[in-house]
Amino acid sequence: MSGVPAVEVDGVSKNYGAVSALKPTSFAVPNGQYFVLLGPSGGGKTTTLRMIAGLIRPTTGRVRIGGRDVTDEPANRRDTAMVFQGFALFPHMTVEQNVAYGLELRRLPKDELRERTAAMLRLVGLTGYEGRRPSALSGGQQQRVQLARALVLQTSIVLLDEPLAALDATLRKDMCFELKHIQESVGTTFIHVTHNQEEAMTVADQIALIAAGTLVESGTPRAMYEHPKRRFTAEFIGENAVFSGPSSEGVLRVGGVALTVSCVEPASAISVAAENIAMHRQRPDLEQALPGTVVDVFYLGFTALLHVEVDGGPAVPVRLPSRELDVGIKAGERVWLSWDPGHARVHMA
Ligand SMILES: Nc1ncnc2c1ncn2[C@@H]1O[C@H](COP(=O)(O)OP(=O)(O)O)[C@@H](O)[C@H]1O
Ligand SMILES: [Mg+2]
Repeated sequence: MSGVPAVEVDGVSKNYGAVSALKPTSFAVPNGQYFVLLGPSGGGKTTTLRMIAGLIRPTTGRVRIGGRDVTDEPANRRDTAMVFQGFALFPHMTVEQNVAYGLELRRLPKDELRERTAAMLRLVGLTGYEGRRPSALSGGQQQRVQLARALVLQTSIVLLDEPLAALDATLRKDMCFELKHIQESVGTTFIHVTHNQEEAMTVADQIALIAAGTLVESGTPRAMYEHPKRRFTAEFIGENAVFSGPSSEGVLRVGGVALTVSCVEPASAISVAAENIAMHRQRPDLEQALPGTVVDVFYLGFTALLHVEVDGGPAVPVRLPSRELDVGIKAGERVWLSWDPGHARVHMA
């Protein structure tokens, strides 16, 4: 049984008239995984999530939950619970009533209903708040009530659409850690939609990057960060210098410099993570150092971020330990960039 994915999206697409919100897309989410759909706004994440939930009908393809084809089944027969963006709580109900609501609809015996509601409020850290109304809660607390309201249903899948978008940055970070802990402790499959890269990296076992209605690439946060396959992934996740240019026979031209790279096809690109770029203040004794001009220097605590405009090439990010700023690097300065060839990644277009 454990080999059957919790969710399978199989060739699923969605058109709204002439607009293609999602092109035919397939992926599987293993049981108990924290799966994140990440990508820019308008890319098709919410559409995908809502088709899993049964709130939108796919134009093509099948959705399976626990191996069962549910494409033709309504939302309430799919063993999923949903946490929506914003705080969609019932304002006239107490915290306890909000959480118990779904169980009441299911006509659960009163004792069991109270027990499960109390246990869930304990899990999300809201014991003692049972009698409050949503208006008397902070944003973070309201978000926790929403989560409790979904988890109390004990469905095998919880779907979360931008669950932290309404929170400020600090709270969002704390709630990320909590979401991860809660998911690990209940072991339920979570599918979480976000446009926020850091949020995705923090909570995900697996990330699927979705943009312009297409699943670009998927993998663990570490694989996506360290070994992005697609150029778009390198542009969206982490901080990467991306070079493209006329290329042939293992050589890619950036300005006047010929970079030797492995298996370059026309229209391909290479990327190097900002922290893997070395910056020199004198021309180094290397064939493949790229000359450029520092345009920005940002002190960010432990590290500093610089933007360097490469001669005849793009402006690229460079990350340095902040102590390297002690020598007085300023905007306008001429520098040379280089990297260990093993750090350059070749991308398909
Ligand atoms: N009901 C709808 N009618 C027409 N177009 C829609 C509808 N819902 C979404 N879209 C379009 O589908 C695309 C994907 O939207 P969505 O799934 O909400 O993206 P995301 O959640 O990644 O921001 C967008 O271009 C959006 O405008
Ligand atoms: Mg959305």
